[in-house]
This record gives sequence, C-alpha cells and structure tokens, in this order.
Amino acid sequence: MIIVGIETSCDETAAAIIEGKSVETQNFAFGAKDFVSVQSNVVSSQIEIHKKYGGVVPEVAAREHVLNILPVVNEALEKANLTPIPPLLIRRGGVKKRGIDAIAVTVGPGLITSLIVGIETAKTLSCVWDVPLIAINHIEGHIYANFVGKSKVKSQKSKIFPALILTVSGGHTMLVLMAGHGKYKVIGETRDDAAGEAFDKAAKLLGIGYPGGPAIAAEAAKFSIFNFQFSIKSETKNQKPKILLPRPMIKSSDYDFSFSGLKTALLYQLKKDGEWHGRIPEYCAEFQQAVIDVLVAKTVKAARDFKVKTVMLSGGVAANKELRRQMEEKVKIELPKTQYLIPNIQYTTDNAVMVATAGYFRALKKDFTPWQKIKVNPNLELR
Ligand code: KG4
Ligand code: ZN
Repeated sequence: MIIVGIETSCDETAAAIIEGKSVETQNFAFGAKDFVSVQSNVVSSQIEIHKKYGGVVPEVAAREHVLNILPVVNEALEKANLTPIPPLLIRRGGVKKRGIDAIAVTVGPGLITSLIVGIETAKTLSCVWDVPLIAINHIEGHIYANFVGKSKVKSQKSKIFPALILTVSGGHTMLVLMAGHGKYKVIGETRDDAAGEAFDKAAKLLGIGYPGGPAIAAEAAKFSIFNFQFSIKSETKNQKPKILLPRPMIKSSDYDFSFSGLKTALLYQLKKDGEWHGRIPEYCAEFQQAVIDVLVAKTVKAARDFKVKTVMLSGGVAANKELRRQMEEKVKIELPKTQYLIPNIQYTTDNAVMVATAGYFRALKKDFTPWQKIKVNPNLELR
C-alpha cells in the first residue's frame, strides 16, 4: 500500500511517500506482519526564517507553507518515482506511474492557518487522484515514527502492546498508554510549558539560539566532555555540579509534568551569577539533566505501574541523545523485561513519514474520512 503523507502543523512543510506491506516473515516490526519502508521524505524547514523572531510567527509560517507545499509534494513524488503533479503538464522520461492508495494529512493540533494549507492540498489531491483521505492527529504521527522500518525488538515473538509512549515536543509533553493501533489514553501531561518549549525558553535566556533543544544539547555536550559530572556519576560527592536546578514534580504521585518553574529557576540563577557568560555549557548540562531526570523518572514509574511491554519515545525532544541514552539505561536496569524503542533521529522532529505511517495503520482498518468531512482542529486531542 502506497501512502502520501502531508504535514504542515507548525514550521515545517513536509511530504513523504511510504510503502506499507504485510509480510509473512516474523522478522519485522515488533514481531508483527506490517513493515513500513520509506520511499521519500522531504522536509522544508522554516527555522532560518523564524530564527530572527526567536520563535514561530504563525502568519509567516502559513505564508511559507503556501509557497512551499506543492514543490515539496512534487519532490516527494519524484523521489519515490511517482508521477508528479500535474501529470499532464510535467512529463519526464523514466518516471514510473504507480498507484497511490491514500493520502494521510495532519488535521491538528497545531497552528490553524498552517494546518489549513496541508489539509486543503490533501483534499484537492484526493479529488484529482480519486484516492481516499486519512485524518491524522499530529501527536499520533509522532508516536508512529516508532513504527517506521525494521524494529530493534529483542525477541521475534515479543508483543509491543500495551505500550507507553513519552511524547515530548515543542507543543506537547505527555505520557500516552497505547493498548493497540489507534487506541490511546493520555495518563499524564504538562501543566504548563512543554519540554521542548522549556528548552527553547532556556536557550533564549542564555542567548544561544533557536531552536533551543539542539543548541542546549550541543553546549551541554561540551561540558560533559571536559567534566564528566553528570548522569550516572553525579552522586559522587566531589563531582556534584556547581549549579543546581530543581526537578519539578519528580516525586509527585501522578504522571504530570511542569517545566515553567525550571525556566524561572534558571533565570534567577543567571541573575545571581555575574560570571554566567563563561559557564554556558555548565548551565546547559544542568538544565538538560534536570529535564531528563524528570522525564525518565515519570516514564519509568508509569511503565511499572501500568505493566507495559514497551516504552517508546517520540517528538522533537526525543532527538536528544542524552535522553535516549539515559532512558535506555534506566529501562534496562529497572524494567529488564520491558522493550525500549526509539525512532530514527530524522523522524523525531516534524516530518511527513510519521504521518504517512500512522495513515498506513489507519488505512488497514479502512479508517478514511471523505474530503467534505475533513476538518482542521488546532486543539485536537488524542483519544
Ligand atoms: O516535534 P517538533 O519538531 O515540533 C512540535 O511538534 O513541537 O519538536 C520541536 C521541539 C523544539 O522545542 C526543539 O527545541 C526540540 O523539539 N528539540 C530538542 C532537540 N531537537 C529538537 N530538544 C532537546 N534536544 C534536542 N536534540
Ligand atoms: Zn511535532
């Protein structure tokens, strides 16, 4: 089954083609029979445009999507050897015509004017090509980044569900219980800032650029190289970090998060420290570690309480190498029977491969939406 994915919920215009197959062998994803291969993956990022404002400007983002969407979809089709749009005007030798089975598009949550660009494009293509549409929740898309390609499942017989997914992006921080494909229950979420938002705001305070997550991770890595003080060894007395930030809600009995206080704590520390400009890597290392400690502790607690078979990461913050590594270590030690899956880094931040993959699993259940009924929902909830 060939699925076209379209994603325009924030500041990335993205299109992708995936092929989903049911295969007889048990070697592929999660001991299940469905295998998703990526035919093309095109992401046009607006980061350079929004950088000068220190964040995404919705109106600017929507205008950029309008300019980029058709070239991006065309490039994705061409890279997958499919006939580009419009088929009668562009004829190139060697472009193979193949069937497209469905178009999956993000309908929310996200920026309303940005989402509309992707949705209207998908609706038009669905009419022109006469193929069904699949409405995808952006968070669901992030979760399905874990289902792309071959998995790293330990045992071929192992099952993944129930699974627990830590979804950490610029707009969301949630713990999602997944009972099966398309079956979600949000058991905890942030009460204020998302984890990615916290990284972005902290980076702004430190003046190290946008988006904040990669900038903080890069600075933190410099500190760890010279002073191996963090993570596992941080208990050792003489190796304690000099800057200490709080770990908000780490001991609360629920599965919720709160990150706005952490950013404020950083602000107060910077105000007290006249030398902070010379200690940016150290501040970044401690900030990153504070976020990771809370994310790991809450995820492991929830995984144990709900006796899940798999722990997964998703969303832009799942690109953070220290989070990936420390979560793996903790799951291995505390929950040895639980599998740990993480998406390929290129599918953690916004992309359309994840949307198309979520679409494939919905298409298997014939979960299509007629174009007349597809609606944008900037506040769409996961259920
Ligand atoms: O999923 P995403 O691309 O967009 C949303 O749906 O929000 O996530 C973007 C977020 C940004 O806040 C960015 O700072 C964060 O993901 N991010 C990271 C890293 N790479 C991106 N955070 C921490 N470490 C990273 N390496
Ligand atoms: Zn996202």
